[in-house]
Amino acid sequence: MKKEHSVSKAGAIGIFDSGYGGLTVLSEIKQLMPEFDYIYLGDNARAPYGSRSFDTVYSFTLEAVEWFFTRGCNLVILACNTASAKALRSIQQINLPNIDPNKRVLGVIRPTVESLSGLSKTSHIGVLGTEGTIQSQSYEIEINKLHPSLHVTSEACPMWVPLVENREFDKPGADYFVKQHIDRILDKDPHIDTLILGCTHYPLLLPVINKYVPSHMNVISQGSFVAESLKDYLRRHPEMAERCSKKGTLQYFTTESPEKFKQHASLFLHEDVDAERTTLTRKL
Ligand code: DGL
Repeated sequence: MKKEHSVSKAGAIGIFDSGYGGLTVLSEIKQLMPEFDYIYLGDNARAPYGSRSFDTVYSFTLEAVEWFFTRGCNLVILACNTASAKALRSIQQINLPNIDPNKRVLGVIRPTVESLSGLSKTSHIGVLGTEGTIQSQSYEIEINKLHPSLHVTSEACPMWVPLVENREFDKPGADYFVKQHIDRILDKDPHIDTLILGCTHYPLLLPVINKYVPSHMNVISQGSFVAESLKDYLRRHPEMAERCSKKGTLQYFTTESPEKFKQHASLFLHEDVDAERTTLTRKL
């Protein structure tokens, strides 16, 4: 029998990441659109996602999306490239029509690629990301669709997310791993003048990254582009904007220790936050 889906009442915008990285996106979104309510969920207990298989990332991400829906969210942003690369399309095409075709899940790769227009003088772009994002070739595919004249070179940086999750991003060990991957991608293509940080954790490493890239390099953090793109999406979809509640609230959830989340998140966001522990299990 066909499921009936009535249009549900307004709910917070859900922002999801495997861990702390999505906070770099949340802070830009919140700054641009403070009027909306937001729920942030970090699956810190199972982070990092970057080296996990397609099936695992898909299943973890679907659990998170369902979790947001049970909390009344109508719009969820996967503020995680790995989840966007490995799970977004399947969730949009296979799961959403069954769960509730009136709800939406958006990712971060497309808005980042859209922002590339006119940025590179050499037309040589570098993409840094997790193993999962780089193996999926999602950036190559999207860049090829939108900017076919751009030449793309990628590099997986498997140690960078653990450096951030373990709060080592400003310690000497970070320099070693950051320099290693910057050197490698520039060896592969010395003409790169625009470098996409294709992982929402990487902006935390920006002070170190800037030490090892040539001074003329454009280093692209995604947060502001994702925020602008979401604003544009809500302008083009007023029916969805109406279904996003506007009381300016922000709630944080983590699948790990709330204490640890509070300490880390406060450092990343430069303000005190409160967090609740939750578990991700299929409820629908
Ligand atoms: N912030 C996630 C991303 O953008 C990190 C993925 C991971 O957990 O490895 O890809």
